[in-house]
Amino acid sequence: MSECEKESFFDAWRTYAKVVEGDYMFHREIGAAVGNALRARFGDRPFSLLDLGCGDAATLAPTLAGLTLSRYKGVDLSATALDIARENLKALPCPVELAKADLLDGLAEDGAFDAIHASFSLHHLPTELKAEFFRRAAALYEEGVSLIGDADYVGALGKLSKALEIDPSFADAHKAMGVCYAHLQEADKGAYHYEQYLKLNPGADDAAQVRRMLTDFYKTQANE
Ligand SMILES: C[S@@+](CC[C@H](N)C(=O)[O-])C[C@H]1O[C@@H](n2cnc3c(N)ncnc32)[C@H](O)[C@@H]1O
Repeated sequence: MSECEKESFFDAWRTYAKVVEGDYMFHREIGAAVGNALRARFGDRPFSLLDLGCGDAATLAPTLAGLTLSRYKGVDLSATALDIARENLKALPCPVELAKADLLDGLAEDGAFDAIHASFSLHHLPTELKAEFFRRAAALYEEGVSLIGDADYVGALGKLSKALEIDPSFADAHKAMGVCYAHLQEADKGAYHYEQYLKLNPGADDAAQVRRMLTDFYKTQANE
């Protein structure tokens, strides 16, 4: 990047930073909601997070500082934003990795993450790449379901949780995870995923059936 390009990038970034600071795009509320969601999902368990289009991570860094993060990876196309992010993320008590890459490539990397965060970045993708982003979630779901058919429940759980990292509102992936945990006789985790399925899809055709399976899980839990 030439000096002139760097200067104009900083001007644009300074303007964006003022917007964030003034909470004109509700970063404060989003940061609090993300913190609550991560706390509810992971509690005291350590978790890793992939931040796609992290920018300078100015909102996420303080949110993550109070959580049990075991690894953070930020992906962004802008090296300059990543330099600022490195400073902002200094206080995190876990390994921090920052990669200058396209967010779809960041998603393609292997290495399982417990959570994926993308804030005000997906809209930068053209429509067909947005579709590709969610297709990847669906592909992982299909793969997970075929592994259930092969009775590889542990393998299926790996694929399905990756699909849910990409799209946490993917109701069918929750149901499929409930099925895997039923076979693995892990009632607590199974109940959690059936509950999520019903929450996301209360009017589903099979809601009554899933509620019955959930009741079976509760009975197993009560007898343990
Ligand atoms: C509006 S900023 C959001 C930054 C931060 N996530 C936030 O919520 O404040 C969008 C960020 O996405 C990055 N970005 C845009 N398109 C990208 C792509 N295709 N791959 C990776 N990063 C991208 C930009 O460089 C910028 O840092």
